[in-house]
Amino acid sequence: MRLFGSLVATLPFSLLSAAISFDGEPDVNSSAVERHMQSRSAMITLEKRQRQDHDFRQNLSPVAQQADTIVEAIRRYETENYWRVAGTPEDEEAERFAGEVFPKAKPLIPATQLWNIIKRMPKGALLHAHLSAMFPFETILDIIMNTEGMVISASQPVLTEAEWANATIAFAHVNHTIAASGPSIDSVDYVPNTQLPIQYAASSFSGGETNFTDFVMSKLEIPPQESIRHELGVDEIWRIFQACFGPADTMLSYEPVVRTFYQRLFGALKDDGINWVEIRAGGSSGKLVHEGEEVVDPDLDIWWQVMVDELDNFKNSDQGKDFWGARVIWSDTRSKDRASLTKSMKIALERKTKFPELFSGYDVVGQEDLGRPLADMAPELLWFREQTDELNLTVPFFFHAGETLGDGNSTDLNLVDAILFNTRRVGHGFSLYKHPKLIDEVVDNAIMVEVCPISNEVLRLATDILHHPLPAMIAHGIPTAISNDDPAILGQDAAGLSYDFYQTIQAFDNLGLAGLGALAQNSLRWANFEDQSDGDWLRDIDLGEHGTGTKATYIQAWNEQWESFCQWIVDEYGVQWNVTAGL
Ligand SMILES: *[C@@H]1O[C@H](CO)[C@@H](O)[C@H](O)[C@H]1NC(C)=O
Ligand SMILES: *[C@@H]1O[C@H](CO)[C@@H](O)[C@H](O)[C@H]1NC(C)=O
Ligand SMILES: *[C@@H]1O[C@H](CO)[C@@H](O)[C@H](O)[C@H]1NC(C)=O
Ligand SMILES: *[C@@H]1O[C@H](CO)[C@@H](O)[C@H](O)[C@H]1NC(C)=O
Ligand SMILES: *[C@@H]1O[C@H](CO)[C@@H](O)[C@H](O)[C@H]1NC(C)=O
Ligand SMILES: *[C@@H]1O[C@H](CO)[C@@H](O)[C@H](O)[C@H]1NC(C)=O
Ligand SMILES: *[C@@H]1O[C@H](CO)[C@@H](O)[C@H](O)[C@H]1NC(C)=O
Ligand SMILES: [Zn+2]
Repeated sequence: MRLFGSLVATLPFSLLSAAISFDGEPDVNSSAVERHMQSRSAMITLEKRQRQDHDFRQNLSPVAQQADTIVEAIRRYETENYWRVAGTPEDEEAERFAGEVFPKAKPLIPATQLWNIIKRMPKGALLHAHLSAMFPFETILDIIMNTEGMVISASQPVLTEAEWANATIAFAHVNHTIAASGPSIDSVDYVPNTQLPIQYAASSFSGGETNFTDFVMSKLEIPPQESIRHELGVDEIWRIFQACFGPADTMLSYEPVVRTFYQRLFGALKDDGINWVEIRAGGSSGKLVHEGEEVVDPDLDIWWQVMVDELDNFKNSDQGKDFWGARVIWSDTRSKDRASLTKSMKIALERKTKFPELFSGYDVVGQEDLGRPLADMAPELLWFREQTDELNLTVPFFFHAGETLGDGNSTDLNLVDAILFNTRRVGHGFSLYKHPKLIDEVVDNAIMVEVCPISNEVLRLATDILHHPLPAMIAHGIPTAISNDDPAILGQDAAGLSYDFYQTIQAFDNLGLAGLGALAQNSLRWANFEDQSDGDWLRDIDLGEHGTGTKATYIQAWNEQWESFCQWIVDEYGVQWNVTAGL
């Protein structure tokens, strides 16, 4: 600094003024600027060629291109005019922006035009969802309230806020009369674990059914104010999250309730534009009390038989006639030790023998950070594979992996094991973007990542959708599809995919309707519609709509849905958004 100063000081004045004579002004039309602009757009184009949705975009019909343009205009308009709102010192909470935390954005989303469009979009397959957390609990509670003989109990009376927070609840069906009298759950005289008829429990609660429902829901759903507390970290939110499954499972144990639940669930998926679903369930689920009874049927098949029956009933109904079906990915909790995991695997293999069409694959679930890593389960998983080979059963792996903030610890490295164990899809794969070699592996071997954006946000891996690695995955050519994971607990509070789709399209400029369409079509390309050898599975993914099998048929059907959806967008919004060329 000083050196430069003294140098200037010694220069003659005339020389200094000569150094600052300028040549012209910046020229927006100069050939140098033009060359830069050309290189720039060439580089952008080149990079976009690597995107996983590139082929889909290249093959858009003229109508789909128009729809894409319209949706982009709407999205931009709403980003600037609906979402971009500055808060004030008096009201910081008034601050709004596109891509803000989901629990805050959620009540604002339904007023947008983009939402109206996304709701109608044909979404293909829901590939990653856990059975007991797929359908809004308030509706299940309503079914239970209207079912004869349903009771509820709490682990302790709930008078204080601390007791309210600490208590656990359980639902059941009884076939003897329980008097609708006695202390309510929030009275000091309530004896822990006393079963009360559900209607009575609600009406006797202070504040009646409304406050009772609030209490029950607080045991089943992560409240918005908890979801956004990122400063408390992953383990804390997982404790709240896991605690919801206990009460949730007891809600789904009485056969008439379970049957109604399936009808409503499949109906809600269909209404949201979903034609196919692969459900994670198994392991601990599957306790069924028959109509008019109160003891769980020990028959391990009965739970699955009811599911198959109700799926058939739905498919034979008016609403379900275009619903293609559902399969189950058997899921054991990763907290099981070697012996109990092996025991559950045997049960899984027996069920697969009895319900070959229903069971689609195998997975281990629960908090990945605190559970056993896949490497530790290698003996069981390799044993399982030997058994399926010997029994001639097709039970591919669909592992959760990389659902973590870790970089290089055992949770993060589950991705390596999942790939080496030949997983057909990866659940979450949140940490995959840190691994160039593993990215090559999933791209080269056509392994899809089931991305659950809202789940990853609420379970504190990404503070909001804008911090999610999804766009990096797509840009690197990784096949992805959007899933909802546990929408009844995590705050979507709706069975379908609309909120996760909305978040995705609203957040990323590179995506647009065309990109979202590619993700929806991917969900079918990577759906496990039927048992297939690894070779056939890969062939059909590769052929996509050009194949000859079940998969190609469904992709073609979706393509038709997509075209009419795009036509609807053009008809509905084209004039308003001045995109009418060629109409
Ligand atoms: C640049 O070129 C455009 C189109 O040829 C012309 O309209 C514009 O006036 C030019 N601008 C300047 C600053 O020369
Ligand atoms: C919380 O619940 C546990 C298990 O039911 C019980 O042992 C404990 O006493 C409760 N704590 C409070 C503060 O109510
Ligand atoms: C019912 O819940 C509301 C909202 O939490 C609360 O303000 C009210 O005091 C409750 N009513 C009773 C009687 O506890
Ligand atoms: C009550 O349920 C039990 C077992 O679930 C059954 O054996 C019994 O017959 C039922 N009683 C009545 C009155 O239905
Ligand atoms: C294995 O199953 C396939 C069809 O799933 C069948 O074609 C084949 O014959 C079976 N092989 C053995 C050894 O059972
Ligand atoms: C891996 O690292 C992440 C981030 O620090 C942490 O949340 C997770 O618990 C770690 N997993 C294990 C098994 O230590
Ligand atoms: C559409 O075109 C009309 C007439 O040119 C114009 O007034 C209107 O602002 C345009 N709307 C949009 C959304 O661009
Ligand atoms: Zn999951």
